Amino acid sequence: MGYAQVYGQWQQDPEGFWMGAAGGIDWVKKPTKALDDSRAPLFEWFTDAQVNTCWNAVDRHVIAGRGKQPAIIHDSPVTGTKHVITYAELQERVSRLAGALKAKGIAKGDRVIIYMPMVPEALEAMLACARLGAIHSVVFGGFAANELAVRIDDCTPKAIIAASCGIEPSRTVHYKPLLDAAIDQATHKPDFCVIFQREQEVARLTPGRDVAWHEFQYGVTPADCTPVAGNHPAYILYTSGTTGAPKGVVRPTAGHLVALNWTMRAIYNCGAGDVFWAASDVGWVVGHSYICYAPLIAGCTTVVYEGKPVGTPDAAAFWRVINEHKVRSFFTAPTALRAIKRDDPEGKLVPKLPTLQALYLAGERADPDTIHWAQRHLKVPVIDHWWQTETGYAIAANPLGIEHLPVKIGSPSVAMPGFDVQVLDEGGHPVSPGTLGAIAIKLPLPPGTLPTLWNAEERFKKSYLNHFPGYYETGDAGYIDADGYLYIMARTDDVINVAGHRLSTGAMEEVLASHKDVAECAVIGVADELKGQSPLGFLCLNKGTNRPHDEVVKECVQLVRDQIGPVADFKRAVVVDRLPKTRSGKILRGTMVKIADSQPWKMPATIDDPAILDEITEALKSLGLARS
Ligand code: COA
Ligand code: AMP
Repeated sequence: MGYAQVYGQWQQDPEGFWMGAAGGIDWVKKPTKALDDSRAPLFEWFTDAQVNTCWNAVDRHVIAGRGKQPAIIHDSPVTGTKHVITYAELQERVSRLAGALKAKGIAKGDRVIIYMPMVPEALEAMLACARLGAIHSVVFGGFAANELAVRIDDCTPKAIIAASCGIEPSRTVHYKPLLDAAIDQATHKPDFCVIFQREQEVARLTPGRDVAWHEFQYGVTPADCTPVAGNHPAYILYTSGTTGAPKGVVRPTAGHLVALNWTMRAIYNCGAGDVFWAASDVGWVVGHSYICYAPLIAGCTTVVYEGKPVGTPDAAAFWRVINEHKVRSFFTAPTALRAIKRDDPEGKLVPKLPTLQALYLAGERADPDTIHWAQRHLKVPVIDHWWQTETGYAIAANPLGIEHLPVKIGSPSVAMPGFDVQVLDEGGHPVSPGTLGAIAIKLPLPPGTLPTLWNAEERFKKSYLNHFPGYYETGDAGYIDADGYLYIMARTDDVINVAGHRLSTGAMEEVLASHKDVAECAVIGVADELKGQSPLGFLCLNKGTNRPHDEVVKECVQLVRDQIGPVADFKRAVVVDRLPKTRSGKILRGTMVKIADSQPWKMPATIDDPAILDEITEALKSLGLARS
């Protein structure tokens, strides 16, 4: 069956389609019904089922006789170590960790924050929570204490599991002081913290609160899998929105299992025994879905890579990992390939890659140069696919396991079953092919996508459902061509994408505005050859502030690093007298972006004072931007 038939099958009978896909999962109690629309426009899937995620990702493979198969390969050039964990070992390690958490009171529905680098223990912590029906929330290591504190207060965890440190090529990331500062800052306090001590840095434990990873597991009774309802939250993952407060995306258990399992064959063409590698981080949705859950649910071997595309030690690192571990499907962000291409433009470091079947790209727009480079040197299909933290898996892709459709460079191909993607005008009416508009998805969204935001149902409706009734608003703008191929062109909100990381300019503005000398500010994302976009701040200082501008800029850069974290990559800001605004006071960020990127732009009809744009242009020129 080709793509058109599979998609058609879903269109004709969406519930039947997903009930069929549910056959790939081991149920404690099978669902009798796929969709629960009793609270439309809020939807849930497989509500009356009973199931356990960890069972499906670990135990069932051991029972099926694959206990000796590697489940996780940890390849860590930053520590110079490699380590294989089989499914049988994983079962043993996870059930013991779950037993220790249970002994300290963690039970179904409790939240547990996980703050760890790319070590197998991060996946084990996620799976141990899943085993108990506890809801984990993984926080990316590149975030600062303040961001961690915000998440602690929002999801009120009973426990936090952290590592003593992370290793970046240029420095050690001291997780423990960040954790301590976050707990000090947060109003909510966890009952206890579990610290995984790494030999690169052993952290001092806080008596009465912290326990060490190995010691607290000593002598415990391993825990069995706790069945949970199909709509039980598997995890919360915070992502950037328009304001500084991150949105807690809720992932429902059963839909997550069914949909991820389906994607492993249909999109990535992988099954039990295959080696799958997503070079991302467990702190991002790609890491949740395709480093941890999907490959394990499908019985694959997953690679956990603790390194960078370049510099650990060179631009051949990815190819070494692929060949050494016999990777079949490989997933990364375009920015990583751009970094490799920059160091190895001729592809001289790319060897033959006999096991590699395809390269998958997502997280940001894949530019044609990068795709061409990869096609030329890797000699495998390069598949751009489009998705979001909210959906948890691809909305649009080229489904290699169903049919390799013709590739159109610049497009992540076509909508996957489950997603009725439409492009709408401002009034919410579908536009004709080729016309740019807001990309929306007809409700209901398929299994595994977010049913709501944690503790914030109104915000969920306001962010995604209210603008276009009957649709989910993706926040992306683009068009669909006459063949049904999608083109994702830009965000419609204040979210920018820096090195495949989703960041909120609103959050950065909130931090800058807190500087004592800053009266007003704006942050925009300007085009960046390597990272796709790079944040740039405009600062208007309080009247009477006569401190040197470069001093204030330096403090502001440090403030964003301290408050949001190094991952924000906020390195540039300029002081200006005024910001360009509409007559109603809205800052004209879009126009500033076009000027900075040397793109053609029109004077907005609603601008309050056109002369301000001359000042902005001069400021941008001083940074080497706005070249024409
Ligand atoms: N923990 C702590 N700090 C981290 C971190 C982590 N897990 N990940 C990144 N950082 C820090 C970096 O050390 C850097 O700090 P610095 O300002 O002190 O140098 C800062 O955050 C910015 O990091 P990054 O954007 O990664 O830039 P880089 O210059 O170090 O590396 C690339 C550039 C392209 C190699 C890198 O961005 C990359 O590999 N990107 C792929 C992204 C990806 O896989 N995204 C997942 C979405 S699918
Ligand atoms: P995140 O939630 O971090 O996965 O970021 C999701 C956003 O990244 C999307 O809304 C898009 O703006 C962007 N994005 C992800 N994948 C692609 C892609 N293949 N092409 C273009 N943009 C993408």
